[in-house]
Amino acid sequence: MVVSIFFCNFAGDFIAQDWSIQQIQDMKGIILAGGSATRLYPLSKAISKQIMPVYDKPMIYYPLSALMLAGIREVLIISTPRDLPMFEELLGDGSRLGMTLRYKVQLVPNGLAQAFVLGREFLNGEPGCLILGDNMFYGQHFGHMLKEAVESAEKGGAVIFGYEVADPRAYGVVEFDESGKVLSLEEKPKEPKSNYAVPGLYFYDETVCEKAADLQPSARGEYEITDLNKLYLAEGTLKVKLFSRGFAWLDTGNCDSLLDAGNFIATIQNRQGFYVSCIEEIAWRNGWISTEQLAALGKEMKTNYGRYLERIAKKGY
Ligand code: G1P
Repeated sequence: MVVSIFFCNFAGDFIAQDWSIQQIQDMKGIILAGGSATRLYPLSKAISKQIMPVYDKPMIYYPLSALMLAGIREVLIISTPRDLPMFEELLGDGSRLGMTLRYKVQLVPNGLAQAFVLGREFLNGEPGCLILGDNMFYGQHFGHMLKEAVESAEKGGAVIFGYEVADPRAYGVVEFDESGKVLSLEEKPKEPKSNYAVPGLYFYDETVCEKAADLQPSARGEYEITDLNKLYLAEGTLKVKLFSRGFAWLDTGNCDSLLDAGNFIATIQNRQGFYVSCIEEIAWRNGWISTEQLAALGKEMKTNYGRYLERIAKKGY
């Protein structure tokens, strides 16, 4: 039986959700939260960038919430030997969110594609999604786009995204022809062929771990996610979905962009009263925890965040 109900995604818009899709799909997700974040020194000298506050919550809540909006319930968090215990302390085994969270150390920060070498056992020959621990997204219909990407990658191939930026040189860059067909992908090009940066959010079919295992390190000695995407492009199975201009993909690379991201979240939350990337709320709206559990989680925190959880639990919608 197909049961459609209306729910409110983290962007605050109401969309119909088909629960039958969520029950059959079982994609797993990986959050890569490693690296030394030298561009944030001295801020990040002794702690992980992805644990730092973005307004009222640790940065990793934002990518975790994106996976949850995609309906992904089983997540592997990869980080450095120094930082991994902190993520474990923060998020535990995931049961409080009705999820399963696992952890894996990345000994050497040698590239994003290594997530699928380290995550091979976790994915166990199944499709998977990767999100970078410092990537933040906010906008209408995001949950819907994510679910479409899950469905598409489960059928085969890869789905990545494109986002127009003024200066794409610090990113993976995707080039199109007039019909929208992908012509090229380049990692941090000095002379970009387009203004479309590729955000750190990728959906792959079950061949991803095999493909990642065959990659060679790039000139800068890293296993590049762009090289992995190029294998799908060469196979003719790479799809690129574009985020529209009203959508926010926020950068947290330096202290100015980190502050801007925090101010952005504060502005949206305090204006509308809906919390952005509130993982407990999403778990509840996904039906992974009960209203009583949500209220209890809220009660533990004597903050506006905790009171928000109690308030929506009381409202019941
Ligand atoms: C990485 C990827 C790049 C992507 C970016 C998104 O770059 O290599 O392709 O566009 O993430 O955040 P990094 O931020 O690690 O330099």
